[in-house]
Amino acid sequence: MTDRYAVFGNPIEHSRSPEIHTAFAAQFGVDMAYTRQLVPAGGFDAAATDFFQGGGMGLNVTVPFKQDAYRFATRLTARAKRAGAVNTLALQTGRAVLGDNTDGGGLVIDLTSNLDWSLTDKRVLILGAGGAVRGILEPVLEQHPRELVIANRTVEKAQQLVEEFAPLGSLSTVGVDNLADLQAFDMVINGTSASLEGDLPPLPDSLLARNAHCYDLMYGAAPTVFMNWATGHGAVAVADGLGMLVEQAAESFFLWRGLRPATKPVIAALRASLK
Ligand code: ATR
Repeated sequence: MTDRYAVFGNPIEHSRSPEIHTAFAAQFGVDMAYTRQLVPAGGFDAAATDFFQGGGMGLNVTVPFKQDAYRFATRLTARAKRAGAVNTLALQTGRAVLGDNTDGGGLVIDLTSNLDWSLTDKRVLILGAGGAVRGILEPVLEQHPRELVIANRTVEKAQQLVEEFAPLGSLSTVGVDNLADLQAFDMVINGTSASLEGDLPPLPDSLLARNAHCYDLMYGAAPTVFMNWATGHGAVAVADGLGMLVEQAAESFFLWRGLRPATKPVIAALRASLK
């Protein structure tokens, strides 16, 4: 019998998750159907209930429903609990639905395994303090950066995150306008959605240390504004979030099926299809 999975979001038409999971399933000969579903605002619970009652096995959840999915889950992994957001729901025995957040794990695997960038003992700056950043903080802190600094346009949002996550590691915040006062960073991760509008927080020329690495959680056919800024300011390595997208999907697939797909060929195929 075909096992059913889906991704819920709004908008959803540009989601690459169906092709990623179809590629994973093909690696193992798993009989899986994975669809996109446009869920209306306020309609998450009804749609998810229908999906699981109708025999669905697992969901990915994207903007703007990750908090709804968090509330919908009957059990949560520790990292989902900390993130306050769920991107993966898995039907378990009985009627239990486990909620996990694989975004941060996906980022860390992309950084450390695919790109071979280490976070350990590095001075790391994260730009932004929205949902995307909340989802990556715990896995990033687990890599033991020497210092992790969050800079956000709205300072209070960064302060809130620092309060919540400070018990997990060396974490502090700074206003975007005060970045120039700090020692340069070994790694900068752009977690703002500014690149969507072709925008960038105002960054000082002195931001990057020698040999700095820069990562944008966003991805696209062309380098993002942040990636271009990084290249122009001496970064030795620059990457976008396509690898994170595939790795978070692989983590979801593992949760659902107990199988670890090979991600490199899927990243390469997706990259080629963007061109
Ligand atoms: P996401 O789920 O993608 O994180 P979000 O929760 O709306 O979306 O967060 C967007 C992040 O990008 C926020 O940190 C936001 O800054 P504010 O908290 O000050 O709103 C940041 N952001 C968006 N557009 C920006 C811009 N043009 N310049 C700087 N920061 C921007």
